[in-house]
Amino acid sequence: MHAAKSIVLIGMMGAGKSSVGRCLQRQSGLARLDTDEMLAAEFGMSIAQIFEKHGEEKFRDAETELLRKLAPDRPAIIVTGGGIVLRPQNVDLLKSVGALVWLAADEDILFERAARRDHRPLLQKENPRAIFAKLFREREALYAASADFQINTSEKTHDEVAETILNKMEEFSSLRQ
Ligand code: S3P
Repeated sequence: MHAAKSIVLIGMMGAGKSSVGRCLQRQSGLARLDTDEMLAAEFGMSIAQIFEKHGEEKFRDAETELLRKLAPDRPAIIVTGGGIVLRPQNVDLLKSVGALVWLAADEDILFERAARRDHRPLLQKENPRAIFAKLFREREALYAASADFQINTSEKTHDEVAETILNKMEEFSSLRQ
């Protein structure tokens, strides 16, 4: 078991994974890998365009394929898309590289944050609030089952969340040695 592990951020859209990932990168000096950014670069288009042109299934396959190849040679911050926990295989692949940190928050807060921006294909439909509620219901148990630990982000700034994670990682690593 490595004392220093990668930090893998999981959680719903709106959890702040991307922003907290950037804070963690700045605070820790570790490299940051963002699966959505990597997939967008690989396809040469936005995530919304991947969904539109190839469909969700193809996106999910590409997500798994990317994780199979993801083997950072040193600990890194790994930012994932909200649906990464849908496939147990993805969770196993992520667990092999680091500690899974679930950024959780109240459903209303998550939706309010997720809906602020319009780049999320799953919410670009009629009644995004109902869709979000369904995803939230389906996924909460998956995040809970996959996570090594959880941080409630409802009342924290991104920098505070990052700081809390780095402190917890120290505890976590010393417990696991
Ligand atoms: C998705 C979340 C998105 C992105 C894609 C699918 C999901 O990432 O991967 O739109 O299934 O929840 P964010 O969680 O960063 O919004």
